[in-house]
Amino acid sequence: MSTPQTPSVNLIPDPSQNTPLRPEPIAFDPSYKMFVVGVHFRKLLKQMKAAEVFVAKGSYASVLGFYSWLKKQAAIQIPITDFESSRANKALLQSFSDRLLVPISKGKCTLQGAPQNGWISELYPKEPAFLMRFSDFLGLNGSWQWFKRGISYPGLSYALHPYYGVYFPTRTEHLELFDSWLSKQPQLHHALDMGTGCGVLAHYLLKHGCEKVTATDINVNALISLKTDAEAQGLLSRVSVVMTSFFEGLEMQSMDLVVFNPPWIPAETDNWLDAATHYHSAFFETFFTQAAQVLKPGTRLVVLFSTFALEAGLTMQHPIEEALKHFPFGLVTKLEQPIQQPPSARKSWLSEIRKTEKNQLWVLKRLAD
Ligand SMILES: C[S@@+](CC[C@H](N)C(=O)[O-])C[C@H]1O[C@@H](n2cnc3c(N)ncnc32)[C@H](O)[C@@H]1O
Repeated sequence: MSTPQTPSVNLIPDPSQNTPLRPEPIAFDPSYKMFVVGVHFRKLLKQMKAAEVFVAKGSYASVLGFYSWLKKQAAIQIPITDFESSRANKALLQSFSDRLLVPISKGKCTLQGAPQNGWISELYPKEPAFLMRFSDFLGLNGSWQWFKRGISYPGLSYALHPYYGVYFPTRTEHLELFDSWLSKQPQLHHALDMGTGCGVLAHYLLKHGCEKVTATDINVNALISLKTDAEAQGLLSRVSVVMTSFFEGLEMQSMDLVVFNPPWIPAETDNWLDAATHYHSAFFETFFTQAAQVLKPGTRLVVLFSTFALEAGLTMQHPIEEALKHFPFGLVTKLEQPIQQPPSARKSWLSEIRKTEKNQLWVLKRLAD
């Protein structure tokens, strides 16, 4: 029995890679079983736990029904009451659903009634027929809706279209802080938007007249996302993109501002989608060590940060407060805003945290040695 391997992704960027990251296509294997309508869900799950792999056949609705049932089973086994249980629940559901595959052919999921999305032909132009995890297919569908519709952000006159697998903000407090702070700054010539994601901070910099923005990310899809939107807005000549981690290989002499909205959850990950939100134990030390080496005295370093992990009790240490004690940076300004979330009818652990969570904008300055 050969089980499809979960793609292990090297989070060290490989600049020679110029094709987008995508869910791994899976080859047909004669040992895989067919998932057909009428199959007993409990029996199916037992077989999946015994490492059998199922390929869906027939209607999309029946696979969706099974997936919803799997979600309920995961919630029964691991009820979500806090961050840790939400992670464990997600991992359990993933372990169930990793063995549920859907057939893809000529740019489409071939199940009856399956929703279609343009990512399949965009991301798999050379693969005529293959299998994909159902959970990945759901992810592609969701992402396609955001990409097609576009997302509006306060103060930007055009919508952004996040490419597949790219982080984009769903709340905007930190963007409002940055937009308002930028409006009071003198003319910027060259800024670095580190970890650009869907490019939203780069667009605010451009809006405020920054002449040139260099945007980086470890995720090649983020760079594609920014380039595509910048081109659509006629801004590409003011943008350059570099696939790199932190400041590696960057020429910083001409920069008068660096902005970084880093991951805010202290947890290890080897999954490139989670690398937008999770930071490993050496993350901030590496960032500030390199920043101290490459930034010339006086250069401003803007770090956007959410206090989520502190409010959730995942850490006692604020990485920026810690950095100010150990690295040659001084505090210029700190602005913060509570989360503006309407009270939720469902009292979840998350809405409790949101009551005290804040978004912060830290303006630091490299001190002279
Ligand atoms: C929280 S997201 C912020 C994205 C975007 N700047 C925003 O404000 O919405 C963090 C981004 O940093 C990127 N990232 C994570 N580690 C990085 C590193 N070592 N160097 C550069 N970018 C990194 C992630 O891929 C992700 O796009």
